[in-house]
Amino acid sequence: MPKLSDPITIRGMEFKNRLAFPPMLSMSSDADGCPTEKTLNVYETKARGGAGLITYEAVSVEPDIFMERNVTANIGKDDNIPAYKKVTDAVHKYGAKFGMQLADGGLIGFVLASLFGAKIEPRGPSSVDLLHLTSAYETMVASWPDVLKQTGAICKEMSIQDIIELEDLFAAGAKRAIQAGFDYIEIHSAHATLHSAFMAPYANVRTDKYGGSTEKRCTFLLETMQKIREAIGEKPPIFVRLSIDELLPDGLKLEESKKIAKIIENAGVDCIDVSQGNMIRSPYGIQIPTYFDHGAFIHFAEEIKKIVNVPVIGVGRIVDPKMADQFIQEGKADIIHLGRQLICDADTPLKYFNGQLDEIKYCMGCLQGCAGTCVYDAYSGQNYTELTPSSDLKKIVVLGAGIAGMETARVAKLRGHDVEIFEKSDKVGGLIPLVAMEYKKEEFMNIVNYLTFQLKKLEVPIHLNKELTREEISELKPDILVLATGTEATIPTNLEGKPNVLTQDEAILKSKPIGKNVVVWGLGAYWKGGPETAITLAEQGYNVKALMGSNTTIATEMLIATGRRLWILEYLRDKKLPIYTRAKLLDVTEKGVKFLDENKNEQFIEADTLVYCGSRITKAKKLKKHFEGVAPLIQLIGDCKRPRNIAEAMKDAQTFVRKLK
Ligand SMILES: Cc1cc2nc3c(=O)[nH]c(=O)nc-3n(C[C@H](O)[C@H](O)[C@H](O)COP(=O)(O)OP(=O)(O)OC[C@H]3O[C@@H](n4cnc5c(N)ncnc54)[C@H](O)[C@@H]3O)c2cc1C
Ligand SMILES: Cc1cc2nc3c(=O)[nH]c(=O)nc-3n(C[C@H](O)[C@H](O)[C@H](O)COP(=O)(O)O)c2cc1C
Repeated sequence: MPKLSDPITIRGMEFKNRLAFPPMLSMSSDADGCPTEKTLNVYETKARGGAGLITYEAVSVEPDIFMERNVTANIGKDDNIPAYKKVTDAVHKYGAKFGMQLADGGLIGFVLASLFGAKIEPRGPSSVDLLHLTSAYETMVASWPDVLKQTGAICKEMSIQDIIELEDLFAAGAKRAIQAGFDYIEIHSAHATLHSAFMAPYANVRTDKYGGSTEKRCTFLLETMQKIREAIGEKPPIFVRLSIDELLPDGLKLEESKKIAKIIENAGVDCIDVSQGNMIRSPYGIQIPTYFDHGAFIHFAEEIKKIVNVPVIGVGRIVDPKMADQFIQEGKADIIHLGRQLICDADTPLKYFNGQLDEIKYCMGCLQGCAGTCVYDAYSGQNYTELTPSSDLKKIVVLGAGIAGMETARVAKLRGHDVEIFEKSDKVGGLIPLVAMEYKKEEFMNIVNYLTFQLKKLEVPIHLNKELTREEISELKPDILVLATGTEATIPTNLEGKPNVLTQDEAILKSKPIGKNVVVWGLGAYWKGGPETAITLAEQGYNVKALMGSNTTIATEMLIATGRRLWILEYLRDKKLPIYTRAKLLDVTEKGVKFLDENKNEQFIEADTLVYCGSRITKAKKLKKHFEGVAPLIQLIGDCKRPRNIAEAMKDAQTFVRKLK
C-alpha cells in the first residue's frame, strides 16, 4: 500500500505526495472576486509547507455575482484571469499541483445574503419549503423564520434554460481557470451547494430529466462535467466533491451516494473528493467542532473507495499527519485533506516528511478563526508577515504564564530580546488547563503544549510559584514589564460567601462541593464557556437547568454559521435542558435559586448549587498603578487588558512584540 509521501498519478498528472489542502473560503478576494495579496499568502504558504495538492476555495462562475463582493472568489470574467495567474505561479514554484473549486452556492448564498441584509433571489432545483431547506438557521438564529417572512422569499425552481446557462458558465469558468494556470478543476457538489441540492431528494422534486431517480438527479452534475471536459480539453483532471452523507434524517446517505459515485465514475470523473454534511442544515460535518474524534468521517471515503477505481480523497478533522499516513496505508483513501491543520500549521507536511514531529502545531478544532487566520497566530495564513530581528534589544519581564504571556515571550525571544516569565501558580497555560477540562475540549491544551515546547527550545526561563514584588521587579531592571496576569472569576456581591454558589472555575475544578441539582447562570459568550460548562456538568451526570439574562443568544460570539454553535444548540435542545431567558437573578437559598422570569414574575428552582458563569474581572488598572515606575514601559497583554478569548490574547502578544523596534 502507498504512503502519504508517495506520489500519485491522476489522469496522467503526477502529484508529488498525497497530503492535500482542501478548498476553504478565505474571505480575502477583492471587489471583483479576484485574489489579493492576502489570498496569495493563503495558498503560497500551503505550497511552501509541502502539500502535494491544493484546491482553491469555492469560486463563483457568474459574471455578475450578487453579494459579498469583497469576499467571494469569482472566475466569471476573462479580466480576472491575470490575478489568478499570479497565485498559480506562486504555488507552482514549490511543485504543488493546484486546482480550482467551481461552485454555485445555491441556498447558502441566499441564507448569507439574508442574514447580512442583502437581497438575492433563492433558486434551486424545485420550489420547496425554504424553512425546511435551511432549517439549521432556525436553531442558529431564532429570527430566521421572520427573516423569511419579511423577504417573502420562495425558492424559485430553475427552468431548463437557467440550468443550461449555468452549465455553460461552469464550462467557461473552468476554461478560464486552466488559462490562469490551474492544473485541475473540482466541481463543488457537496454541502448544499446548487449541484448537491439537485442530488438531494428533499430539495429536488422535479419530474423532468433533472429530477426523479438517482441517475436523473445527477443529470445537472453530469452535464456540467461533460461541458467542462469539452471546454478544457482532455488533459486536466476533473474532481467532484460530494457530501456522501448529509448527516440529516432525510438527506443523502451512503447507500445512495455509492450509486452516485459509480454514476460519476462511469461519466469520467478523475477523482472523488468525499465530504459530508450540509452547510445550512448540518454544518458540523463541514465545520467540524472539537467534540468530534479525529478522522471521524474517514469511513465514508473508505466505503466509496471500495466500489470505484478512481482515486478517492478523505477529509474530516484529521489533524495528525501520522493518522493521515495510516489511512493511506490502510487503503481507506488515496489522498488525505488536512484543512484546518494546514491553516494552523502550513508547514505540517514538510515537518512530518522530515521527521520534525515535535515542531508541529496541532489544530484544536475550535473553529474560531479558520477563514481568516488561525487563533494561534494572527500573522499567519492570509496575514502572513515574516518576523524580523529587533534592532533595539530590550530586557523584558513577563508576569503570567498564560498563553498571552507565553506568546509574548516566544515572539520576543525570536526577535532577539532578553525575556523571562514569572508565574504565580505552579503551572503554565493560565486558564487553558481549566478550559481543557470542559466536555471534549481537552485538545485546547495543544496550544499550551506548543508554547511550552517552543519556550523550552528557545531557553526562555519560566519561574513558577513566583509572584514578584515591586522591589524584586526593580532589581531585575527591565526595560519593559508585561502584565499578562489574566482575570479572576466573580460572583455577584449579594451571593458572596454562600457555600452553594460556585464560580465557573470552582464548578469545573470541583474545588468546592457541588450538589446533584445545578443551576448554571450565563449561557452567553462562548469564551466564558457558559454553554459548554452546562454541557460539561450535564455529561458528568448533574441535573442542569440554566438561566440567562438580557442577552438571550446562546454562545453569542459564534453567531456566524459554525458547526460548533449548532452542535451546542442541538445538544441543549435534544437533551431538553431547561433554559430560562431574560431572567434576573434574585437570591440563592439552601433550597434553590430565586429569580424574576421574563414576565417579571418571581420564580424558584429547587437546586443544590448555583454555578455562576458571569463576567470575569481584570485587576490590570490596580496592578499597573502598583508597579508604576519599575520599568520605563508597562504593557497589558491578553485578558489582563480586557477579558476576551484565545485569539485576542495571542494577537495582543504578537502585535505588541512585533511593534518593538
Ligand atoms: C471555562 C472557560 C472556557 C473558555 N473557553 C474558551 C474557548 O472555547 N475559546 C476561547 O477563545 N476562549 C475561551 N476561554 C477564554 C480563554 O481561556 C482566555 O481568554 C485566555 O486563556 C486568556 O489568556 P491570558 O494568558 O490572557 O490569561 P490567563 O489564561 O488568565 O493567564 C494569566 C496567568 O497569569 C498568572 N498570574 C496572575 N497574576 C499574576 C502575578 N501577579 N504574577 C505572576 N503571574 C500571575 C495566572 O496564574 C495565570 O497563569 C474560556 C475561559 C473559561 C474560563
Ligand atoms: C472556514 C472554512 C471554509 C470552508 N470553505 C469550503 C469551501 O469553500 N469549499 C468546500 O468544499 N469546503 C469548504 N470547507 C470545508 C473544508 O474543505 C473541509 O472539508 C473541512 O474544513 C473539514 O476538514 P478539516 O477538519 O481538515 O478542516 C470549509 C471549511 C471551513 C472551516
